[in-house]
Amino acid sequence: MLSVSVNGIQFRNPLILASGILDESGATMLRIARAGAGGIVTKSVGAKERAGYGNPVVYELPHERGIINAIGLANPGIDAYGEELRIALQGGVPIIGSVFGSTAEEFAALAKKMEEYGVHAVELNLSCPHASGYGMEVGVDKKLVREIVSAVKSEVQVPVWAKLTPNTHDLRGIAAAAEDADAFVLINTVRGMAIDINARRPVLSNAYGGLSGPCIKPVGVRAVYEIAREFDTPIIGVGGITTGEDAIEYMMAGASAVQIGTAILYRGINAFREIAGEIESWLIENGIEKVSELVGMAQVR
Ligand SMILES: Cc1cc2nc3c(=O)[nH]c(=O)nc-3n(C[C@H](O)[C@H](O)[C@H](O)COP(=O)(O)O)c2cc1C
Repeated sequence: MLSVSVNGIQFRNPLILASGILDESGATMLRIARAGAGGIVTKSVGAKERAGYGNPVVYELPHERGIINAIGLANPGIDAYGEELRIALQGGVPIIGSVFGSTAEEFAALAKKMEEYGVHAVELNLSCPHASGYGMEVGVDKKLVREIVSAVKSEVQVPVWAKLTPNTHDLRGIAAAAEDADAFVLINTVRGMAIDINARRPVLSNAYGGLSGPCIKPVGVRAVYEIAREFDTPIIGVGGITTGEDAIEYMMAGASAVQIGTAILYRGINAFREIAGEIESWLIENGIEKVSELVGMAQVR
């Protein structure tokens, strides 16, 4: 009932761990696989180890449900990551290796390494809203996006997912530039910031960060709906999914599967099993046999 297939990869349910949350180490990825996730995206990994920004790197909003983060793409570097993947792959669910870089050659080399480590697909982080030189500057440069996707596609056999930024007025143009990708991942965090009025300065050490959690769900649903109307490429929906109903909403907008990140802060790692149960109950109540029947159901033509 809950299994889905994206680019021929079988997921036991459509709930995939989003990049950046409990997925830097093999041990936590294994825990998430055992906690019922349908698949896992790794932390975005670059060519070299990066410490990231100094604290504070995360701020929980006091009134809206959501957080702002500027971790700064902290990661162990691709050479050290093989061991983490070896452990994560023991979980028996598909693993998607996320990579970031600043040139097409860099992305291609990182994707190749991920493939050698045994991942089932690679995800290109073309959209970090706060890492200078690596993130959305890359992801809004359509020429560069085209070059990156095409370089990676000619380097690896596994499916290539392009994770796009919501921080643009031209999402369709960027998706068109990434059209060689096997799937689009929508969305990364929404660029934002918070100010500590008593300290009279920005809260995060990097000032700007990325907003995630329930408060960005309408932005993500809109992005999925908009791109699903224009492209036949499968879409993975992400942004604020916290309940089974949220996941169903994204799938009705056009997502073939979804990713879950910030919800783990609110619900713990049991979120995967619980949300899967919520989807299943809804499907039974509504007489729908397979979750894949939901994909694009709400599209008004
Ligand atoms: C602490 C944190 C770290 C993140 N790191 C990454 C990352 O390394 N690469 C990436 O593509 N997205 C990263 N993201 C973005 C998430 O994968 C996701 O796109 C976003 O948080 C929206 O989903 P959510 O509301 O379910 O968290 C990060 C998000 C958070 C909250």
